[in-house]
Amino acid sequence: MTGRPTDYEALPPLPLAGERAARPRRLRRLIGIRDLVRETRLCVEDLIYPVFVCPGRGIREPIAAMPGQHRMSVDLLIEECRVVADLGIPGIILFGIPSHKDSRGSGAYDPDGIVPQALRALRAASSELVLIADVCLCEYTDHGHCGLVQNGQVANDETVELLAQAALAYACAGADIIAPSDMMDGRIGYIRRQLDQAGHTQVPIMSYAAKYASAFYGPFREAAGSAPQFGDRRGYQMDPANAREAMRVIELDIRQGADIIMVKPAMSYLDILHQARHRFDVPLAAYNVSGEYSMAKAAAERGWIDGARVRDEMLLSIKRAGADMILTYFAKEAAAVMA
Ligand code: PBG
Repeated sequence: MTGRPTDYEALPPLPLAGERAARPRRLRRLIGIRDLVRETRLCVEDLIYPVFVCPGRGIREPIAAMPGQHRMSVDLLIEECRVVADLGIPGIILFGIPSHKDSRGSGAYDPDGIVPQALRALRAASSELVLIADVCLCEYTDHGHCGLVQNGQVANDETVELLAQAALAYACAGADIIAPSDMMDGRIGYIRRQLDQAGHTQVPIMSYAAKYASAFYGPFREAAGSAPQFGDRRGYQMDPANAREAMRVIELDIRQGADIIMVKPAMSYLDILHQARHRFDVPLAAYNVSGEYSMAKAAAERGWIDGARVRDEMLLSIKRAGADMILTYFAKEAAAVMA
């Protein structure tokens, strides 16, 4: 009898029920065993990289609140996309920063606006990436709301009409997937019909179906200059308190023709992801939003957390909760270590 704690014979019997003692640690002892029993694996094919495109040339302007992220002009975005594709990341989602904003958000549905320009240039450069176009008015309106404001309210149906024009402009310019993030009612069905009528029957819709009115979007709004100038988005984005409502709105979007559904943000809404995964059979996306990224970056910069490990754990937890794909600002750095 050696008395070493690893000498099982020497240990007093544990008060466990059953004939054999349950010892889950047996499967944790060796790296190889841990590899074999691992239930969830994050891979580069799960990732979508969000990018911000702005007018001009030679611009690569850091976004202060999102260390490592930039607003890029089309020429440099093309270079960036080569790097993203070389890392094995399947796709990007494009957000436009227009040169001017107005009350109707006209830059969003201008066929020669910044996102159509970027899409055409990427197509011309034969980018292999899946090009996803975010559809919303908030980056393009001077008041910062996601739609047309009438009598202090965002007018639903009038906004849907403009969103459909934006979706069409992006599909015509070469978008592979249309991703409406506005949270207006009925927009998925309306956009689907408009796309189909124009012959874009093969362009899928990724719906930001369960998008919450979240404070985690703060850094994105700095990046896009899209913070609402009055009020907030609680009249159209979801109440963070509601889970059943998420199931209902996801179902509505699927019935209207959504091909992929999204839950956003990701980290504080893993329960929603998990429920959606079990309830619906369409592919499920999770948006690991700007605030989630920036919090981890800020704490890592201070040396309070191990940034790389926290990043990997965040992404893994989102996948484990049920996401098939993750939109994340961490995509490049996560892909770089997976290679
Ligand atoms: C546009 C849009 C937003 C985000 C994605 N699309 C901002 C918002 O709703 O305020 C947020 C993304 C992020 O925080 O990373 N409607």
